[in-house]
Amino acid sequence: MNWRIFIIVFILTFGISLPAMMTLGDVHLIGNHQGYQPEQPLPFSHSLHAGQLALNCQYCHSAADESRHASVPSLSTCMNCHNLAKGNTEFAKANIAKIAAAYEKGEPVRWQRVHNLPDFVHFNHSAHVTKGVDCQTCHGNVPEMGVMRQNADLTMGWCVNCHRDQNTLGKGLAAPTDCDTCHH
Ligand code: HEC
Ligand code: HEC
Ligand code: HEC
Ligand code: HEC
Ligand code: HEC
Repeated sequence: MNWRIFIIVFILTFGISLPAMMTLGDVHLIGNHQGYQPEQPLPFSHSLHAGQLALNCQYCHSAADESRHASVPSLSTCMNCHNLAKGNTEFAKANIAKIAAAYEKGEPVRWQRVHNLPDFVHFNHSAHVTKGVDCQTCHGNVPEMGVMRQNADLTMGWCVNCHRDQNTLGKGLAAPTDCDTCHH
């Protein structure tokens, strides 16, 4: 057994009552928070941008096919459109004005992180996206989400079951199931 895995097992043996405490306190610590939907500092809507406007996911999450992180876009990406699209309703005008003001001051928006795997797990977007696994397979029906939420449970079983399934589909894929791939 790899020593890092040993440490993980050690930590978990002594942290066994932690999950119970976490549900009581409703604290967002790590993974396993299916349905988690934090309030965001601005009402950014995927159902408007990826649904009605049908923007490609990678227009904004441009690193998804080349790096570990899909990345959240900076305000300059928003301003490509919001320089001109200033809003038709009072609600849209007020919120788009906030984006323009933040952009001019060079202040990033503090988006609340939705997904958060524990640090001892190694996940990589490009490894999946370049092998043709769709965003929606893991993130659910994003073009219908008004407010972003965590779709899958992000447990180890979720990862490993899909890896096993992929390998039996005869598509020539070899999704690893050895401990070291995800815990190194
Ligand atoms: C116009 C830009 C834009 C487009 C297009 C877009 N997104 Fe996003 N996405 C964002 C922004 C901004 C955030 C951070 C705010 C939030 O969570 O709503 C985000 C957040 C996310 C998150 C959560 C990140 C976290 O904190 O865990 C996921 C998952 C996601 N997007 C997936 C998608 C998928 C899948 C598509 C295509 C169907 C898509 N996005 C299209 C801008 C975009
Ligand atoms: C195989 C499942 C899977 C696929 C496919 C996938 N994601 Fe993710 N995504 C995850 C997981 C798991 C996390 C949490 C990663 C972490 O906490 O380190 C995540 C996190 C994110 C985040 C926030 C953190 C980051 O990595 O930037 C965004 C944004 C995101 N995904 C967008 C996308 C988009 C857009 C696509 C398609 C181009 C996509 N994802 C495809 C599983 C997936
Ligand atoms: C491809 C063009 C495009 C991009 C890129 C874009 N938007 Fe939009 N957005 C629109 C359009 C069009 C509307 C509808 C405006 C209206 O009401 O007239 C809109 C509306 C909005 C609204 C108003 C809310 C609502 O529900 O009406 C907000 C807030 C917003 N966008 C935030 C963002 C943010 C944040 C980004 C960057 C992460 C972004 N947009 C990127 C085109 C875009
Ligand atoms: C929907 C199916 C699916 C899910 C869910 C999934 N994976 Fe994968 N995973 C794949 C496929 C397909 C590959 C690529 C196999 C290949 O390259 O032949 C892959 C490859 C990988 C690789 C290998 C990367 C490399 O550099 O070779 C790692 C690491 C990985 N996945 C981690 C994870 C983790 C961690 C999770 C859960 C948080 C997860 N995966 C969830 C389908 C999935
Ligand atoms: C495809 C990716 C993947 C592989 C392969 C994998 N794990 Fe995990 N593992 C995860 C993820 C994701 C988590 C965190 C989510 C969770 O706790 O269920 C995790 C959590 C764990 C935990 C914490 C226990 C828990 O339930 O919270 C231990 C211990 C662990 N893994 C050991 C192993 C061992 C031993 C192997 C090899 C037999 C292995 N893992 C293979 C993805 C993987």
